[in-house]
Amino acid sequence: MMKPTSLFLQSLTCLILSVGLSKSDPDPLQDYCIANTNSPFFINGVPCINPNLASASHFTTSALGKPGNTEANFLKFNVTLTNIVNLPGLNTLGLTMARVDIDANGLVPPHVHPRASEVTICLRGALLVGFVDTSNRLLAQQLRPGDSFVFPKGAIHFLYNIDSKNMALAVSGLNSQNPGVQIASTAIFTSKPNIPDEVLEKAFQITGQDVARIRKNLGG
Ligand SMILES: *[C@@H]1O[C@H](CO)[C@@H](O)[C@H](O)[C@H]1NC(C)=O
Repeated sequence: MMKPTSLFLQSLTCLILSVGLSKSDPDPLQDYCIANTNSPFFINGVPCINPNLASASHFTTSALGKPGNTEANFLKFNVTLTNIVNLPGLNTLGLTMARVDIDANGLVPPHVHPRASEVTICLRGALLVGFVDTSNRLLAQQLRPGDSFVFPKGAIHFLYNIDSKNMALAVSGLNSQNPGVQIASTAIFTSKPNIPDEVLEKAFQITGQDVARIRKNLGG
């Protein structure tokens, strides 16, 4: 039998640890801090406008109302984000929303958000989504409208429209005003300057021709 005190200490430790782990953007010190995107200062976030000038329009946006154009992208997806420009009231609040339009058989390729966990809800279509944890295990799931899935912060993840005829639509919430995104394939093969071929040949056990071909395929 565990003593009540040690159980209490254990719960407390778990609580402290989980708070530490789920911590994302710093807590705001004010009700709000409407982004002053013209400020010449660079700080962690963006400075605020005078709060006396706040209006409801700073807290509203129609940015997610229209589908993004999926045609220009060879993977046939488009992500529309709220940010401090189209929704200046979200500055310091640790939030971003994303509208994800994915054409038939389109793919949001494996990528990471270094500063945010993400919860996504499928609103239309059929999505195969998943992430790989640090033990290299894939956790994947098919989503139908109404189904949600959560991607842990920093985990490599993807969203694939498994329907070959219809568009899919998902909306995501991320717990940072600046989640950041790094697409694995482009970061590795099309960085400027390039990662030396020799490094990629070794890392992927491929030839110089393979490196060149992948780079070209990815537009690098
Ligand atoms: C996403 O859609 C918007 C709005 O149609 C468009 O301006 C933008 O260029 C598209 N992005 C990509 C990467 O195709």
